[in-house]
Amino acid sequence: MLWSILKRAPLIIGLGLLAFIMSSCTMLGLNYASLETDNKPEAMPQIQAASFEDWAAGRAELKEAFETHIYGPWPSGLAVSFGETRRVDGALGALGVLEETPITLGTGEGARTFHLAVAYPAFAPAGGVPVVIGQTFSSNCSAFPAAALTSPGGTLCDGDPMGGAIGVVGRYIFGEYIAEVPVEQYFRQGVAYATFYASELVPDSASVAPDILAGLTGEDGIAPTGALMAWAYGFSAAADFLEKDDRIDPDRVAVFGHSRHGKAALLAGVWDEGITAIISHQSGYGGAASSRSTAGEGIRRMTNGGRLTPIGPAMPGYPHWFDPAYASYAGRLDELPVDQHQLLALLAPKPVFLGNGRRDVWSDPNSTFRMAEAADRIYKLAGAAGLDQSGMQDFNPAGDLAYFLRPGGHGTDQRDITAFLAFLDAHFGGPPLSQGQGSIAAEH
Ligand code: GCU
Repeated sequence: MLWSILKRAPLIIGLGLLAFIMSSCTMLGLNYASLETDNKPEAMPQIQAASFEDWAAGRAELKEAFETHIYGPWPSGLAVSFGETRRVDGALGALGVLEETPITLGTGEGARTFHLAVAYPAFAPAGGVPVVIGQTFSSNCSAFPAAALTSPGGTLCDGDPMGGAIGVVGRYIFGEYIAEVPVEQYFRQGVAYATFYASELVPDSASVAPDILAGLTGEDGIAPTGALMAWAYGFSAAADFLEKDDRIDPDRVAVFGHSRHGKAALLAGVWDEGITAIISHQSGYGGAASSRSTAGEGIRRMTNGGRLTPIGPAMPGYPHWFDPAYASYAGRLDELPVDQHQLLALLAPKPVFLGNGRRDVWSDPNSTFRMAEAADRIYKLAGAAGLDQSGMQDFNPAGDLAYFLRPGGHGTDQRDITAFLAFLDAHFGGPPLSQGQGSIAAEH
């Protein structure tokens, strides 16, 4: 009996492995996003507005619908205060200056403080330089390795947490710029770069986040119920800080996030009028991809987790990113009163970059393009260029819905950075920026 089982072991293991690969192709980045969009369902609910004024009149109600059914409330009026700014001497050499400021959201026991690191190019035109505010998975110690910034534990960074073997593997899988900021490339284009660690504001943990969110009470006792909204509010607080800085041009403030932070970047762009451009890279489900699409992650996996195979390890879900109402739409998505083309349309006429990887089907590049196609109508009504490209592979950085698709999977690599910079150049161009091009800012 035992022998007959042992004899079959290679077959059983082989079949198990096959089942594992087949059931996880999308998550493991082994298949390719379809480039065909005409044969897919139309974006629903249809956008009906006849003019931009008509659309603008319904904006508040639509934002409220997104809050009620997906993201939970924007904590309007939640107190924001800024601590003392500290200069991190010599961190960027002759290229520019690195500073760090603690930002506190809320008051009393529930208040949360995170550190915003800001790299200013030495090139300092009158009127200030544009800025990108990034939000990341790893701490500021990895964003600017070697700089004596404050670690999430409150002590000074002691080396790069992405410096060892984990970092090598992480960069191999998720790209060389998954954590580190290529600051020299931004400076060469005359752009300042600010960054913060989202988990320092609200930990990315389903067990810890809900209590912390409840402590962040804004006007009328309204607290966020989803981490994405709180992280988006963090973007907004950082933008408030930078808009008061005369080294920064307040009319050219972009937010950047990858994946879950790309979702938060979209929300920040909708709820904070002062943010002028959005770089939302591989934001996927709950971001720019359709909630009704079945190609990628899907609502059950996102809000409730799943298993790699019927016998494989459990995968965590991310219920804490959303209001609990969202999970209740599993199995009845046709009843969800909104979809993500409307979220993109709420950004009109602001320029938005939507980054995608052809093998990152988990983030659903196909439905992301279709959402942009459906939102384009409102951009055009607003007199903006909108989605000004003929298909998923025809990236036009000057479009206001600039959809970018590169080969490869989920991560941030040089191809992405080059595309972000092309988008920033197209939308934030102008005299101070063009003076900064072509040579290192510090040389001016
Ligand atoms: C998971 C999650 C995605 C998310 C991604 C990320 O894969 O399922 O929704 O975008 O993590 O943040 O990298």
